[in-house]
Amino acid sequence: PETGCLSIIVLGASGDLAKKKTFPALFNLYRQGFLQSNEVHIFGYARTKISDDELRSRISGYLCKDASTGHSEDVSKFLQLIKYVSGSYDTEEGFQLLDKEISEHELAKNSAEGSSRRLFYFALPPSVYPVVCKMIKKCCMNKSDLGGWTRIVVEKPFGKDLESSERLSAQIGELFEEPQIYRIDHYLGKELVQNMLVLRFANRLFLPLWNRDNIANVQIVFREDFGTEGRGGYFDEYGIIRDIIQNHLLQVLCLVAMEKPVSLKPEHIRDEKVKVLQSVLPIKDEEVVLGQYQGYRDDPTVPDHSNTPTFATVVLHIHNERWEGVPFILKAGKALNSRKAEIRVQFKDVPGDIFKCKKQGRNEFVIRLQPSEAIYMKLTVKQPGLEMSTAQSELDLSYRQRYQGLPFRRLMSA
Ligand code: BG6
Repeated sequence: PETGCLSIIVLGASGDLAKKKTFPALFNLYRQGFLQSNEVHIFGYARTKISDDELRSRISGYLCKDASTGHSEDVSKFLQLIKYVSGSYDTEEGFQLLDKEISEHELAKNSAEGSSRRLFYFALPPSVYPVVCKMIKKCCMNKSDLGGWTRIVVEKPFGKDLESSERLSAQIGELFEEPQIYRIDHYLGKELVQNMLVLRFANRLFLPLWNRDNIANVQIVFREDFGTEGRGGYFDEYGIIRDIIQNHLLQVLCLVAMEKPVSLKPEHIRDEKVKVLQSVLPIKDEEVVLGQYQGYRDDPTVPDHSNTPTFATVVLHIHNERWEGVPFILKAGKALNSRKAEIRVQFKDVPGDIFKCKKQGRNEFVIRLQPSEAIYMKLTVKQPGLEMSTAQSELDLSYRQRYQGLPFRRLMSA
Protein backbone atom coordinates (compact mmCIF):
# COMPACT_ATOMS: atom_id res chain seq x y z
CA PRO A 1 0.00 0.00 0.00
CA GLU A 2 1.00 3.59 -0.56
CA THR A 3 2.37 5.47 2.39
CA GLY A 4 3.20 9.08 3.02
CA CYS A 5 1.20 12.16 3.40
CA LEU A 6 -2.24 12.38 1.80
CA SER A 7 -3.93 15.74 1.30
CA ILE A 8 -7.55 15.67 0.23
CA ILE A 9 -8.69 19.01 -1.06
CA VAL A 10 -12.43 19.58 -1.39
CA LEU A 11 -12.96 22.43 -3.83
CA GLY A 12 -16.33 24.08 -3.36
CA ALA A 13 -16.21 23.16 0.33
CA SER A 14 -18.92 25.56 1.43
CA GLY A 15 -21.48 24.28 -1.08
CA ASP A 16 -24.36 21.84 -0.98
CA LEU A 17 -22.66 18.81 -2.53
CA ALA A 18 -19.64 19.05 -0.23
CA LYS A 19 -21.78 19.39 2.86
CA LYS A 20 -24.32 16.71 2.05
CA LYS A 21 -22.20 14.14 0.25
CA THR A 22 -18.44 14.73 0.07
CA PHE A 23 -17.61 15.38 3.71
CA PRO A 24 -19.97 12.66 4.98
CA ALA A 25 -18.34 10.23 2.52
CA LEU A 26 -14.90 11.18 3.80
CA PHE A 27 -16.16 10.76 7.35
CA ASN A 28 -17.36 7.24 6.49
CA LEU A 29 -13.91 6.40 5.13
CA TYR A 30 -12.34 7.84 8.25
CA ARG A 31 -14.55 5.80 10.56
CA GLN A 32 -13.67 2.65 8.70
CA GLY A 33 -9.98 3.33 9.13
CA PHE A 34 -9.15 4.25 5.54
CA LEU A 35 -7.94 7.73 6.44
CA GLN A 36 -5.22 7.59 9.07
CA SER A 37 -4.90 10.83 10.99
CA ASN A 38 -1.12 10.59 11.05
CA GLU A 39 -1.05 10.78 7.24
CA VAL A 40 -4.17 12.58 6.12
CA HIS A 41 -5.23 16.15 6.13
CA ILE A 42 -8.37 17.51 4.52
CA PHE A 43 -8.55 21.00 3.06
CA GLY A 44 -11.73 22.81 2.18
CA TYR A 45 -11.42 25.53 -0.44
CA ALA A 46 -14.13 27.94 -1.59
CA ARG A 47 -14.82 31.62 -2.13
CA THR A 48 -16.87 32.19 1.02
CA LYS A 49 -14.85 33.82 3.75
CA ILE A 50 -15.33 31.66 6.81
CA SER A 51 -13.07 30.24 9.51
CA ASP A 52 -12.05 26.60 9.99
CA ASP A 53 -14.55 26.31 12.81
CA GLU A 54 -17.37 27.80 10.80
CA LEU A 55 -16.82 25.21 8.07
CA ARG A 56 -16.66 22.46 10.67
CA SER A 57 -19.92 23.51 12.27
CA ARG A 58 -21.61 23.76 8.84
CA ILE A 59 -20.82 20.17 8.03
CA SER A 60 -20.90 18.48 11.42
CA GLY A 61 -24.69 18.08 11.41
CA TYR A 62 -24.52 16.06 8.20
CA LEU A 63 -21.85 13.66 9.40
CA CYS A 64 -23.93 11.94 12.02
CA LYS A 65 -27.12 11.59 10.00
CA ASP A 66 -26.40 8.03 9.01
CA ALA A 67 -24.38 7.07 12.03
CA SER A 68 -25.62 5.42 15.17
CA THR A 69 -25.10 7.15 18.47
CA GLY A 70 -21.74 7.18 20.18
CA HIS A 71 -19.73 8.59 17.30
CA SER A 72 -19.37 12.12 18.59
CA GLU A 73 -15.74 11.48 19.50
CA ASP A 74 -15.07 10.29 15.94
CA VAL A 75 -16.83 13.36 14.60
CA SER A 76 -14.71 15.78 16.57
CA LYS A 77 -11.47 13.98 15.69
CA PHE A 78 -12.46 13.97 12.04
CA LEU A 79 -13.36 17.66 12.08
CA GLN A 80 -9.92 18.46 13.47
CA LEU A 81 -8.42 17.05 10.27
CA ILE A 82 -10.15 19.75 8.25
CA LYS A 83 -8.68 23.14 7.46
CA TYR A 84 -10.35 25.82 5.41
CA VAL A 85 -8.75 28.13 2.87
CA SER A 86 -10.76 30.77 1.07
CA GLY A 87 -9.97 32.13 -2.36
CA SER A 88 -11.38 32.62 -5.82
CA TYR A 89 -11.38 29.96 -8.52
CA ASP A 90 -9.79 32.00 -11.27
CA THR A 91 -6.85 33.81 -9.68
CA GLU A 92 -3.55 32.50 -8.45
CA GLU A 93 -3.47 34.08 -4.97
CA GLY A 94 -5.92 31.69 -3.37
CA PHE A 95 -4.32 28.62 -4.91
CA GLN A 96 -0.86 29.78 -3.86
CA LEU A 97 -2.15 30.08 -0.32
CA LEU A 98 -3.71 26.64 -0.60
CA ASP A 99 -0.42 25.24 -1.84
CA LYS A 100 1.39 26.82 1.08
CA GLU A 101 -1.02 25.22 3.55
CA ILE A 102 -0.73 21.81 1.89
CA SER A 103 3.08 22.03 1.80
CA GLU A 104 3.23 22.97 5.48
CA HIS A 105 1.15 19.97 6.35
CA GLU A 106 3.33 17.74 4.16
CA LEU A 107 6.43 19.03 5.86
CA ALA A 108 4.96 18.42 9.29
CA LYS A 109 3.65 14.92 8.53
CA ASN A 110 6.25 13.44 6.26
CA SER A 111 9.08 11.43 7.57
CA ALA A 112 12.12 10.87 5.35
CA GLU A 113 10.56 8.04 3.34
CA GLY A 114 7.24 9.73 2.74
CA SER A 115 5.88 10.67 -0.64
CA SER A 116 3.11 13.19 -1.03
CA ARG A 117 -0.28 12.56 -2.49
CA ARG A 118 -2.67 15.34 -3.41
CA LEU A 119 -6.26 14.57 -4.28
CA PHE A 120 -8.45 17.40 -5.54
CA TYR A 121 -12.18 16.72 -5.38
CA PHE A 122 -14.29 19.08 -7.50
CA ALA A 123 -17.55 19.85 -5.71
CA LEU A 124 -17.95 22.64 -8.25
CA PRO A 125 -20.04 23.56 -11.27
CA PRO A 126 -18.38 22.26 -14.46
CA SER A 127 -18.13 25.78 -15.85
CA VAL A 128 -15.16 26.40 -13.55
CA TYR A 129 -13.45 23.02 -14.06
CA PRO A 130 -11.02 24.26 -16.74
CA VAL A 131 -9.87 27.33 -14.86
CA VAL A 132 -9.53 25.44 -11.59
CA CYS A 133 -7.49 22.75 -13.36
CA LYS A 134 -5.23 25.48 -14.71
CA MET A 135 -4.73 26.93 -11.24
CA ILE A 136 -3.96 23.54 -9.72
CA LYS A 137 -1.47 22.81 -12.47
CA LYS A 138 0.19 26.16 -11.97
CA CYS A 139 0.24 26.40 -8.19
CA CYS A 140 -0.65 23.17 -6.42
CA MET A 141 1.05 20.14 -7.95
CA ASN A 142 2.85 17.64 -5.75
CA LYS A 143 6.46 18.73 -5.49
CA SER A 144 7.93 15.97 -3.39
CA ASP A 145 11.18 14.47 -4.68
CA LEU A 146 10.17 11.27 -2.98
CA GLY A 147 7.34 10.47 -5.33
CA GLY A 148 3.60 10.60 -4.94
CA TRP A 149 0.98 12.07 -7.20
CA THR A 150 -1.62 14.73 -7.92
CA ARG A 151 -5.07 13.58 -8.96
CA ILE A 152 -8.38 15.23 -9.67
CA VAL A 153 -11.86 13.84 -9.14
CA VAL A 154 -14.81 15.18 -11.12
CA GLU A 155 -18.47 14.18 -11.18
CA LYS A 156 -21.39 14.80 -13.45
CA PRO A 157 -22.63 16.97 -15.00
CA PHE A 158 -19.58 16.61 -17.20
CA GLY A 159 -20.81 18.98 -19.88
CA LYS A 160 -24.31 19.08 -21.26
CA ASP A 161 -24.03 17.24 -24.52
CA LEU A 162 -21.39 15.42 -26.53
CA GLU A 163 -19.76 18.58 -27.78
CA SER A 164 -19.47 20.33 -24.41
CA SER A 165 -18.31 17.14 -22.73
CA GLU A 166 -15.61 16.59 -25.35
CA ARG A 167 -14.54 20.21 -25.01
CA LEU A 168 -14.23 19.78 -21.25
CA SER A 169 -12.26 16.56 -21.71
CA ALA A 170 -9.90 18.30 -24.11
CA GLN A 171 -9.39 21.25 -21.76
CA ILE A 172 -8.67 19.04 -18.77
CA GLY A 173 -6.65 16.64 -20.94
CA GLU A 174 -4.23 19.40 -21.85
CA LEU A 175 -3.32 19.80 -18.21
CA PHE A 176 -3.52 16.31 -16.73
CA GLU A 177 -2.71 12.81 -17.92
CA GLU A 178 -5.65 10.43 -18.16
CA PRO A 179 -4.55 8.32 -15.13
CA GLN A 180 -4.66 11.50 -13.02
CA ILE A 181 -8.30 12.20 -13.91
CA TYR A 182 -11.06 10.36 -12.07
CA ARG A 183 -14.52 10.85 -13.53
CA ILE A 184 -16.71 9.27 -10.93
CA ASP A 185 -20.34 8.26 -10.55
CA HIS A 186 -21.40 7.90 -6.95
CA TYR A 187 -23.89 5.15 -7.82
CA LEU A 188 -20.95 2.86 -8.43
CA GLY A 189 -20.07 3.23 -4.75
CA LYS A 190 -23.34 1.70 -3.64
CA GLU A 191 -22.98 -1.74 -2.14
CA LEU A 192 -25.59 -3.41 -4.28
CA VAL A 193 -24.43 -1.79 -7.48
CA GLN A 194 -20.98 -3.20 -6.77
CA ASN A 195 -22.60 -6.52 -6.00
CA MET A 196 -23.93 -6.80 -9.56
CA LEU A 197 -20.60 -8.10 -10.83
CA VAL A 198 -20.46 -10.78 -8.17
CA LEU A 199 -24.08 -11.80 -8.47
CA ARG A 200 -23.89 -12.13 -12.20
CA PHE A 201 -20.52 -13.71 -12.65
CA ALA A 202 -20.00 -15.77 -9.49
CA ASN A 203 -23.32 -17.62 -9.51
CA ARG A 204 -23.87 -20.57 -11.77
CA LEU A 205 -27.58 -20.15 -11.18
CA PHE A 206 -27.83 -17.00 -13.26
CA LEU A 207 -25.50 -17.89 -16.12
CA PRO A 208 -27.96 -19.86 -18.26
CA LEU A 209 -30.93 -17.63 -17.41
CA TRP A 210 -29.51 -14.19 -18.07
CA ASN A 211 -30.64 -13.69 -21.64
CA ARG A 212 -33.48 -13.10 -24.09
CA ASP A 213 -34.65 -16.71 -23.88
CA ASN A 214 -35.65 -16.31 -20.25
CA ILE A 215 -35.97 -12.64 -19.43
CA ALA A 216 -39.04 -10.68 -20.51
CA ASN A 217 -37.83 -7.22 -19.50
CA VAL A 218 -35.53 -5.37 -17.14
CA GLN A 219 -36.62 -2.31 -15.21
CA ILE A 220 -34.17 0.08 -13.61
CA VAL A 221 -36.03 2.52 -11.44
CA PHE A 222 -35.05 5.58 -9.45
CA ARG A 223 -37.70 7.38 -7.41
CA GLU A 224 -37.26 10.22 -4.97
CA ASP A 225 -39.92 11.56 -2.66
CA PHE A 226 -38.51 15.08 -2.63
CA GLY A 227 -38.15 17.75 -5.29
CA THR A 228 -35.31 20.06 -6.19
CA GLU A 229 -35.11 21.63 -2.72
CA GLY A 230 -32.92 24.64 -3.39
CA ARG A 231 -31.04 22.93 -6.23
CA GLY A 232 -33.47 24.21 -8.85
CA GLY A 233 -30.88 26.53 -10.37
CA TYR A 234 -28.64 23.58 -11.19
CA PHE A 235 -31.38 21.08 -11.93
CA ASP A 236 -33.32 23.22 -14.35
CA GLU A 237 -30.29 23.50 -16.60
CA TYR A 238 -29.93 19.74 -16.82
CA GLY A 239 -33.20 17.89 -16.11
CA ILE A 240 -33.79 14.35 -14.92
CA ILE A 241 -32.24 12.64 -17.94
CA ARG A 242 -28.84 14.25 -17.47
CA ASP A 243 -29.11 14.24 -13.68
CA ILE A 244 -29.98 10.57 -13.19
CA ILE A 245 -30.53 8.53 -16.36
CA GLN A 246 -27.48 9.12 -18.55
CA ASN A 247 -25.16 8.63 -15.61
CA HIS A 248 -26.48 6.58 -12.68
CA LEU A 249 -29.04 4.42 -14.47
CA LEU A 250 -26.90 3.81 -17.53
CA GLN A 251 -24.06 2.62 -15.32
CA VAL A 252 -26.46 0.19 -13.69
CA LEU A 253 -27.79 -0.89 -17.08
CA CYS A 254 -24.26 -1.65 -18.25
CA LEU A 255 -23.60 -3.85 -15.23
CA VAL A 256 -26.85 -5.73 -15.75
CA ALA A 257 -26.38 -6.23 -19.48
CA MET A 258 -22.66 -6.57 -20.13
CA GLU A 259 -20.73 -9.72 -20.93
CA LYS A 260 -18.24 -11.13 -18.45
CA PRO A 261 -15.13 -8.93 -18.44
CA VAL A 262 -11.73 -10.53 -19.00
CA SER A 263 -10.81 -9.60 -15.42
CA LEU A 264 -11.80 -7.11 -12.76
CA LYS A 265 -9.31 -4.54 -14.07
CA PRO A 266 -11.05 -1.21 -14.65
CA GLU A 267 -10.12 -1.22 -18.35
CA HIS A 268 -11.64 -4.65 -18.87
CA ILE A 269 -14.87 -3.65 -17.15
CA ARG A 270 -14.97 -0.42 -19.12
CA ASP A 271 -14.51 -2.30 -22.39
CA GLU A 272 -17.56 -4.45 -21.72
CA LYS A 273 -19.67 -1.48 -20.65
CA VAL A 274 -18.77 0.38 -23.81
CA LYS A 275 -19.90 -2.58 -25.92
CA VAL A 276 -23.31 -2.48 -24.27
CA LEU A 277 -23.67 1.24 -24.87
CA GLN A 278 -22.61 0.87 -28.47
CA SER A 279 -25.25 -1.80 -28.98
CA VAL A 280 -28.12 0.38 -27.75
CA LEU A 281 -30.41 1.31 -30.63
CA PRO A 282 -31.51 4.93 -31.14
CA ILE A 283 -34.33 5.74 -28.75
CA LYS A 284 -37.79 6.11 -30.31
CA ASP A 285 -39.91 9.13 -29.38
CA GLU A 286 -42.89 6.90 -28.69
CA GLU A 287 -40.85 5.01 -26.10
CA VAL A 288 -40.14 8.07 -24.00
CA VAL A 289 -42.44 9.67 -21.43
CA LEU A 290 -41.48 12.97 -19.84
CA GLY A 291 -43.16 14.79 -17.01
CA GLN A 292 -42.74 17.60 -14.54
CA TYR A 293 -44.09 17.49 -11.01
CA GLN A 294 -46.68 19.98 -9.94
CA GLY A 295 -45.09 22.76 -7.94
CA TYR A 296 -41.66 22.43 -9.58
CA ARG A 297 -41.92 25.96 -10.95
CA ASP A 298 -42.82 27.32 -7.51
CA ASP A 299 -39.16 26.86 -6.60
CA PRO A 300 -37.81 30.44 -6.75
CA THR A 301 -34.63 29.19 -8.44
CA VAL A 302 -36.63 27.68 -11.33
CA PRO A 303 -37.80 29.92 -14.23
CA ASP A 304 -41.59 30.39 -14.34
CA HIS A 305 -41.98 28.79 -17.76
CA SER A 306 -39.52 25.96 -17.42
CA ASN A 307 -40.37 22.76 -19.27
CA THR A 308 -37.43 20.81 -17.83
CA PRO A 309 -38.50 17.23 -17.11
CA THR A 310 -38.35 15.99 -13.52
CA PHE A 311 -39.66 12.56 -14.54
CA ALA A 312 -38.70 10.34 -17.45
CA THR A 313 -39.29 6.81 -18.65
CA VAL A 314 -37.12 5.65 -21.51
CA VAL A 315 -37.13 2.24 -23.16
CA LEU A 316 -33.77 1.04 -24.43
CA HIS A 317 -33.18 -1.88 -26.78
CA ILE A 318 -29.82 -3.58 -26.83
CA HIS A 319 -29.13 -4.97 -30.25
CA ASN A 320 -26.99 -8.01 -29.51
CA GLU A 321 -27.22 -11.74 -29.26
CA ARG A 322 -28.05 -11.79 -25.56
CA TRP A 323 -30.65 -9.05 -25.42
CA GLU A 324 -32.40 -8.65 -28.77
CA GLY A 325 -36.11 -8.14 -28.04
CA VAL A 326 -35.78 -7.50 -24.29
CA PRO A 327 -36.85 -3.98 -23.34
CA PHE A 328 -34.78 -2.22 -20.70
CA ILE A 329 -37.12 0.24 -19.06
CA LEU A 330 -35.38 3.10 -17.29
CA LYS A 331 -37.51 5.28 -15.02
CA ALA A 332 -36.46 8.23 -12.91
CA GLY A 333 -38.45 10.86 -11.09
CA LYS A 334 -38.27 13.46 -8.40
CA ALA A 335 -41.07 14.38 -5.99
CA LEU A 336 -42.85 11.04 -6.36
CA ASN A 337 -44.74 9.21 -3.64
CA SER A 338 -41.80 7.09 -2.45
CA ARG A 339 -38.02 6.91 -2.40
CA LYS A 340 -36.57 3.81 -3.98
CA ALA A 341 -33.91 2.67 -6.42
CA GLU A 342 -34.13 -0.86 -7.74
CA ILE A 343 -33.43 -3.24 -10.58
CA ARG A 344 -36.25 -5.63 -11.48
CA VAL A 345 -35.52 -8.50 -13.79
CA GLN A 346 -38.80 -10.05 -14.90
CA PHE A 347 -38.71 -13.55 -16.30
CA LYS A 348 -40.94 -14.94 -19.01
CA ASP A 349 -43.87 -17.15 -18.14
CA VAL A 350 -43.28 -20.89 -17.84
CA PRO A 351 -44.38 -22.52 -21.10
CA GLY A 352 -47.02 -25.24 -20.87
CA ASP A 353 -48.36 -24.07 -17.54
CA ILE A 354 -50.18 -26.90 -15.75
CA PHE A 355 -51.17 -24.88 -12.70
CA LYS A 356 -53.15 -22.21 -14.49
CA CYS A 357 -51.38 -19.81 -12.23
CA LYS A 358 -50.75 -16.91 -14.57
CA LYS A 359 -52.50 -14.51 -12.26
CA GLN A 360 -49.96 -15.39 -9.57
CA GLY A 361 -47.32 -13.39 -11.37
CA ARG A 362 -44.03 -14.36 -12.90
CA ASN A 363 -40.57 -15.01 -11.50
CA GLU A 364 -38.90 -11.79 -10.72
CA PHE A 365 -35.41 -11.07 -9.44
CA VAL A 366 -35.17 -7.77 -7.60
CA ILE A 367 -32.12 -5.90 -6.41
CA ARG A 368 -33.11 -3.02 -4.19
CA LEU A 369 -30.25 -0.54 -4.12
CA GLN A 370 -31.90 1.68 -1.55
CA PRO A 371 -33.38 2.19 0.94
CA SER A 372 -33.09 -1.08 2.91
CA GLU A 373 -30.75 -2.90 0.57
CA ALA A 374 -32.10 -6.29 -0.44
CA ILE A 375 -31.89 -8.98 -3.07
CA TYR A 376 -34.99 -11.10 -3.49
CA MET A 377 -36.44 -13.56 -5.91
CA LYS A 378 -40.15 -13.87 -6.42
CA LEU A 379 -41.22 -17.39 -7.13
CA THR A 380 -44.29 -19.51 -7.23
CA VAL A 381 -44.61 -22.17 -4.51
CA LYS A 382 -47.28 -24.57 -3.36
CA GLN A 383 -49.70 -22.90 -1.02
CA PRO A 384 -49.14 -24.89 2.21
CA GLY A 385 -52.12 -27.08 2.86
CA LEU A 386 -53.90 -30.07 1.44
CA GLU A 387 -54.84 -28.54 -1.85
CA MET A 388 -52.48 -28.33 -4.78
CA SER A 389 -52.77 -24.60 -5.24
CA THR A 390 -50.01 -22.10 -5.89
CA ALA A 391 -48.90 -18.89 -4.25
CA GLN A 392 -46.32 -16.23 -4.94
CA SER A 393 -43.50 -16.11 -2.37
CA GLU A 394 -39.99 -14.78 -1.96
CA LEU A 395 -36.44 -15.90 -1.32
CA ASP A 396 -35.30 -12.84 0.52
CA LEU A 397 -31.80 -11.61 1.34
CA SER A 398 -32.40 -8.42 3.27
CA TYR A 399 -29.10 -6.85 4.13
CA ARG A 400 -30.28 -5.25 7.34
CA GLN A 401 -31.07 -8.66 8.80
CA ARG A 402 -28.28 -10.67 7.23
CA TYR A 403 -25.42 -8.23 7.70
CA GLN A 404 -26.26 -6.45 10.92
CA GLY A 405 -23.70 -3.90 11.98
CA LEU A 406 -21.42 -4.36 9.00
CA PRO A 407 -20.20 -1.20 7.31
CA PHE A 408 -21.72 -2.22 4.00
CA ARG A 409 -23.37 1.09 3.44
CA ARG A 410 -22.11 3.10 0.57
CA LEU A 411 -18.80 4.78 1.03
CA MET A 412 -19.29 7.45 -1.53
CA SER A 413 -22.16 9.28 0.09
CA ALA A 414 -23.98 9.39 3.34
C1 BG6 B 1 -27.30 13.02 -7.67
C2 BG6 B 1 -28.35 13.86 -8.32
O1 BG6 B 1 -26.32 12.65 -8.61
O2 BG6 B 1 -27.88 11.86 -7.14
C3 BG6 B 1 -29.46 14.20 -7.34
O3 BG6 B 1 -27.77 15.05 -8.80
C4 BG6 B 1 -30.00 12.96 -6.68
O4 BG6 B 1 -30.51 14.87 -8.01
C5 BG6 B 1 -28.85 12.11 -6.13
O5 BG6 B 1 -30.84 13.36 -5.61
C6 BG6 B 1 -29.35 10.77 -5.65
O6 BG6 B 1 -28.31 10.09 -5.01
P1 BG6 B 1 -28.63 9.04 -3.87
O7 BG6 B 1 -27.31 8.43 -3.56
O8 BG6 B 1 -29.21 9.83 -2.74
O9 BG6 B 1 -29.60 8.09 -4.47
